[in-house]
Amino acid sequence: MLFFRGENIAMSEVIGFELRGRLAIITIDNPPVNALGLEVRQGLISQVDRASWDEKVAAIVLIGLGRTFTAGADIREFDKPVQEPHLLSIIDHWDTIEKPIIAAIHGTALGGGLELALGCHFRVAVQAAMFGTPEVKLGIFPGAAGTQRLPRVAGLEHALELIVLGEPISAMKAFQYGIVDQIIEGDLLDGAISFAEKILEEKMPRRVSSQPKQGIGSPDDFKDIIQKYRDLASRKMRGQDSPHQALASVVDGLEMPYEQAVLKDRERFPICKDSDQSKALRYAFFAEREASKIPGVGKNISARAITNGGVIGLGTMGQGIVMCFANAGIPVQVLESSQEALENGIKNIQQNYQGMVDRGRISDQEMVNCLDLISTSTDYSTVADSDLIIEAVFENLELKKDIFSKLDSVVKKGAVLATNTSYMDINQIASVTSRPEDVIGLHFFVPAQVMKMLEVVRTKYSSNEAIATGMGLAKIFKKVGGVAGVSHGFVANRSRAPMVREANFLVEEGASPAQIDKVLRDFGMPMGVLAVSDMSGLDVSWRMRKSLAHLHDDEERYPYLADRLCEMGRLGRKTGSGWYTYGEGGTVPIPDPQVDIIAQEVAIETGIERRQISDSEIADRCLFAAVNEGAKILEEGIAYRASDIDIMWQYGFGFPRWRGGIMYHADKTGLPNVLQKVEEFYSVHGKLWKPSELLKNLVASGSSFTQG
Ligand code: 3HC
Ligand code: NAI
Repeated sequence: MLFFRGENIAMSEVIGFELRGRLAIITIDNPPVNALGLEVRQGLISQVDRASWDEKVAAIVLIGLGRTFTAGADIREFDKPVQEPHLLSIIDHWDTIEKPIIAAIHGTALGGGLELALGCHFRVAVQAAMFGTPEVKLGIFPGAAGTQRLPRVAGLEHALELIVLGEPISAMKAFQYGIVDQIIEGDLLDGAISFAEKILEEKMPRRVSSQPKQGIGSPDDFKDIIQKYRDLASRKMRGQDSPHQALASVVDGLEMPYEQAVLKDRERFPICKDSDQSKALRYAFFAEREASKIPGVGKNISARAITNGGVIGLGTMGQGIVMCFANAGIPVQVLESSQEALENGIKNIQQNYQGMVDRGRISDQEMVNCLDLISTSTDYSTVADSDLIIEAVFENLELKKDIFSKLDSVVKKGAVLATNTSYMDINQIASVTSRPEDVIGLHFFVPAQVMKMLEVVRTKYSSNEAIATGMGLAKIFKKVGGVAGVSHGFVANRSRAPMVREANFLVEEGASPAQIDKVLRDFGMPMGVLAVSDMSGLDVSWRMRKSLAHLHDDEERYPYLADRLCEMGRLGRKTGSGWYTYGEGGTVPIPDPQVDIIAQEVAIETGIERRQISDSEIADRCLFAAVNEGAKILEEGIAYRASDIDIMWQYGFGFPRWRGGIMYHADKTGLPNVLQKVEEFYSVHGKLWKPSELLKNLVASGSSFTQG
């Protein structure tokens, strides 16, 4: 590789060079996140070399401009051929530079960003900075010697924590782990300059993170720690290869000399990068960011400020939503129909927080702070000044309309009025108010304080500002927002309902709940679909079927078995049995031979022929039913993009991220294959399987849902 000497310096648009006394200040300026694309790498190598050859320079400070140090490699480059200089070559080269290089870190040092910082000889950071190696979440592992250098700097256990699990840590923790040499109070650059002067004055030797060059121990010495992270990877990232590849890379480096381990990494890295899992995870990364881009809601539309919130109804969902407000530090006023309901709800919230304290997730003081933010009342005037109110009462249209007209009469103008309804027509709810433009849906997933998805429902009246406020709330709650139009079940529930439907029918036809759920768990879902139904309660859909009975189309197949279970009082976990049996207060689904007997009876009554059903039919029926519905949702303009559906499945239903999402999965399967199955099921099972026009058109034109 060519390194630059003296005057032959190529200027860089993205890497700045400034001489301050005897220090060279080198800046990375590649907005928005200073990703380490080709131009940055070229600039870094030339400007650091320039400083190393410049006699006036005694030490080098490397700092990021804008909001961050660097977010790592440019992920968009992963689909292109690798171009030198590779980040690894730069970092290895810096080991040989005699002048101390100090990384000054704010924002994030993630992935290649942390590896770059490890290639510097010292690291200082502001307290708010975050450090991490999230590569496993992209289906890869730290590919610029992070797996070799981090264990040398932070010790094996801390390195495995970062590298295998991929979660970022705070600057304070990084300091405790030895990754950061000093936390800077006040201005970062000033602090980094003082630090650099100090190390020059004290003639502190450079710390080269590839030292010692020999390995740092035998895997046998660390076998318990290694096993712990192997188990954690299998449990927390079930089905995903990259954490295991990352672990293997670290383990290789224990015995092997640095150079040899790095060479082995260079062979392993492209295999991971080119894997289907990595491609799906990269797709998911960009899909998540795309979901926040809403037609009509440009940068000129700002979200309204939310300094206090309101929640109506303190049942299952209301409790979780109240916790979201409190966790975000926003005072929240809760309204219920009775004092008793309020007391019940608050008791559950307290227990929930206490559980978090007991598990060490929050401190006693944090629990007290959150609880202090919650006020309760049965009087509507108490929500008059709320900036955003979320209604979460029973799923009943008339009740919801009544509540919205009351809210309309008391709540200040400019507040956003939201409903957490799962299925109701929000256009109708909005139209009872004098300000339908301020009404939106905010559909949380259960448990609301945990699940990361927030479906923001746009009615035909919703203003762009109200939608921006809903999406802004998702960010405030540290959730992922996605927009849906009004439709029965909006996007997430509507696209999932056919999966539940097919699972129900499959039991009628001869599959056992355990077989169906196993197929879906093996596919990567965290729980089987029928175990989830039992958890939510089978009566929810039963009630809905009854309320919509007058709309039922006789040509559509009906889930008689699901009704029968409810009629027998088998409502799921809460009654001790449903698709499975649970025993008193139990939560573990136990296969129940009774269900098979009931299914046989229903099959005889309804003329269904029972048979052996293959696992592949179960997978195809459950997954492609959802895909076909997703296509109809797109066709009707209820979702903006197929990738939005995918994000909702990932964050709302735990769809395995390494499969990209339900629509991406369909693309990978090949849409002609999907259509063929949909048509086959249509001919056997009838109307519910009517192929989507969009699916047919995409197949005819050779295109796909997610590849543009
Ligand atoms: N490469 C390319 N683009 C990136 C990027 C990256 N590493 N990180 C962020 N971006 C883009 C986003 O796509 C987004 O683009 P858009 O505006 O066109 O949608 C823009 O930068 C801003 O990103 P966010 O909306 O995510 O901004 P936030 O402020 O919410 O979050 C962040 C910032 C925490 C840095 C977050 O973007 C993030 O987690 N980035 C990815 C970090 C990462 O995974 N790094 C490892 C990369 S792989 C690697 O380094 C391999 C190495 O080992 C060789
Ligand atoms: P829930 O039955 O647990 O709670 C409803 C609460 O509303 C009760 O505490 C009740 O006392 C209160 N309430 C009833 N009438 C009221 C009134 N006039 N004023 C104030 N409070 C009143 O119901 P859940 O499960 O919390 O559902 C609430 C809403 O959230 C529904 O629209 C539901 O469709 C939706 N939803 C439910 C999900 C779930 O999985 N449970 C998931 C996502 C949305």
